[in-house]
Amino acid sequence: MMYLRVLGSAAGGGFPQWNCNCPQCKGLRDGSLHARARTQSSIAVSANGLDWLLINASPDILTQIRDNPVLQPARARRDSGIAAVLLMDAQIDHVTGLLMLRERGTPLPLLATPQVLSDIGSGFPITQILSHYCGVQTHALQCDGRAFAVPGLPDITLHAVALDSKPPPYSPFRGSPRPGDNIGLVLANPANGRRVFYAPGLGQMTPQLLDLMAGCDVVLVDGTFWHMDEMQRLGLSSKTALDMGHLPQSGAGGMLEHLARLPARVRKVLIHINNTNPILNEDSPERAELTAAGVEVAHDGMEILF
Ligand code: MLT
Ligand code: MN
Ligand code: ZN
Repeated sequence: MMYLRVLGSAAGGGFPQWNCNCPQCKGLRDGSLHARARTQSSIAVSANGLDWLLINASPDILTQIRDNPVLQPARARRDSGIAAVLLMDAQIDHVTGLLMLRERGTPLPLLATPQVLSDIGSGFPITQILSHYCGVQTHALQCDGRAFAVPGLPDITLHAVALDSKPPPYSPFRGSPRPGDNIGLVLANPANGRRVFYAPGLGQMTPQLLDLMAGCDVVLVDGTFWHMDEMQRLGLSSKTALDMGHLPQSGAGGMLEHLARLPARVRKVLIHINNTNPILNEDSPERAELTAAGVEVAHDGMEILF
C-alpha cells in the first residue's frame, strides 16, 4: 500500500489569504461561508508510512508538519519523516518551505528539473542560502518518461512529464517557458501497479497527457481557477488563468471537459485551489456541478491510498 497525504490543497496565498477580502476569504473569516480553510500546495507520499517524499515545500510547511503527526516519527532526538523533497516547479508557494527545513543535520535530498534548480539557485537563491545551513543534495529530474527511484525511499517509483504552464514571475523565463519549468508526476506502486498522476499547475491539456491520465487510477490536477477571467471579475488582477499558467475548469476546452473523457474508474480530484474559486464554497452551484460530474475537491489532510 502507498500512502498519499494532501498537506496543503490551496494555491499560492492559501485560504483565506492574509490580505484578501474577496467574498470567499471574507466569508470564511466571518463564518458565513460553508467552506474549509486550506494551506498552500503540498503533498507527501510514503510506501511504509514512516519515510515520506515531500512534494513541494510550501510556506506553510511547519503548520502542515504539526497538523500531520505522521511526518514526525520521533525515532531520534532530532528526526523527521521527510526523507527527501521533490519540486514540481519553482513557484513561491512550492519552494519557500525549504528554508524552514534548514535545521537538518545532513544535506536535504532535493529532486527537481534543471530548470527549477536554476531558478532556485539564482532568481530566488534558496539553495545558495541553504548551503550556509544544512545544504542540499540535488538530483536532477529528467522529463524523459523514464522511471527513477528516490534516494532513501526505494519503494517509490516515479516519472516526470513536462507540462505547459509558466515559470514563476521572478524567473528570467516567465515570458518564454521551457519544458521542465513545470512538471506532472506519475507516482506508481510497484507492488500492485496502481498509479496516481499529480499536476498542481497545468496550463494545457494534450492528447498524450489525457492518455497518460487515462492509464492512472487517480488524477490529482490543477484546480486553481473556475473561470478564465476569475481574478478580473473580482477586480483582483488583470491576468487570465492562462496568463498565470493554469487551465480553468469551466468553459469550452476547460479542465472539466477533459476530465469527462477519462474512463469512469479514474478517480478525479482537483487540487491547488485558489481562494477565489467558487468550488471552495460547498453550497455553490459550481461545487454541485463537480459532484454531479464525479470530481472531488482535495482538502488538507485528505488521504489517498494506492
Ligand atoms: C501559481 O501557481 O500561479 C502560484 O500559486 C502563484 C504564487 O504562488 O504566487
Ligand atoms: Mn502555485
Ligand atoms: Zn480571497
